[in-house]
Amino acid sequence: MVKNDLKTLPFHNELSLSPQDILDLFKVTFDQQLYRDDRQILSDDIQLVKSELFNRNYSAAFDTAEKRTAYCCRWSPSRAIAYSSLFCHLDAVRAVIQKSDESEILCIGGGAGGELISISSIFVPSVDFNSKYSTSAQVENKTLKVTLVDLADWSAEVEKLKESISKTWLFDHANDLQIQFLKKDVLQATSSDLNLPTLNLITLLFTTNELFTAAKAESIRFFQLLSNQCKSGCHLLIVESAGSFSHITVGTKKFPIQFLVDTLLLGKRGQEDTGAWELVQEHDSLWYRAKDDVDYPLKVENMRFFYRLYRKK
Ligand SMILES: C[S@@+](CC[C@H](N)C(=O)[O-])C[C@H]1O[C@@H](n2cnc3c(N)ncnc32)[C@H](O)[C@@H]1O
Repeated sequence: MVKNDLKTLPFHNELSLSPQDILDLFKVTFDQQLYRDDRQILSDDIQLVKSELFNRNYSAAFDTAEKRTAYCCRWSPSRAIAYSSLFCHLDAVRAVIQKSDESEILCIGGGAGGELISISSIFVPSVDFNSKYSTSAQVENKTLKVTLVDLADWSAEVEKLKESISKTWLFDHANDLQIQFLKKDVLQATSSDLNLPTLNLITLLFTTNELFTAAKAESIRFFQLLSNQCKSGCHLLIVESAGSFSHITVGTKKFPIQFLVDTLLLGKRGQEDTGAWELVQEHDSLWYRAKDDVDYPLKVENMRFFYRLYRKK
């Protein structure tokens, strides 16, 4: 297991498109709301989402098209540039995205597009744009399938982002990246709904806390489903806020959520090698800091988070 002293992720990892490229993609996609409509409308929607998230009214935060678009404009860009750096930093994650043959990723709670854009920003530099004229079957066949599953209906936002990725980044290689949105409560989903046995990577970014807050027993059962159904070698990446916002109450005690997840995936304390997964890499408090001179019409956030990367045995 790799544990390192890194405190801050690089602003830009050269293996991906640049943070400015990523922000520009959001600017093009949400041009109407960011530049054309009355800015006060967007500011009001952003405030609504912010207070719902702060009060942990998670379903209310994403229950209208206006609130979902506001999240995409205000938070997804910051998430996307941070995730792009994080995914490049994690060799196993980058390898899935840039693999030379087929691979499949499931982003749970990924409807808002942050994960999708960061994955795309790493996938695009690995595409051989001359391969149309190449005779190499291996290069021709490279495809990445990304499924975003979410309780809220982000289908319109995902469709817009997908169109921008094709038009701005992939051109006639758009089919190399197969993007699907699935509106579903993962806690009610079956293994075949989610294609669990074929996945190479699952991401649960700023979503684990929501699952456990909404339904502890079902969330535990969901992690057991992952343990039973994912294939050996599948990776699972969990990211949440570092600090007490990520504590959950079990009985009368409060625990950092990562303790509970470690127990479910690795085994009880002192018997951490008995679980279905092994810990590949972790960090309890990592920063991503956006540079002040990026060009985006709204605030671009810094992020401090913990992550855990597990691999199915
Ligand atoms: C705080 S947002 C995080 C969005 C994104 N992953 C990011 O990092 O910006 C949590 C997301 O998880 C989704 N979600 C919450 N509970 C869910 C469930 N049971 N099944 C599927 N998605 C869920 C929410 O609708 C929301 O889109």
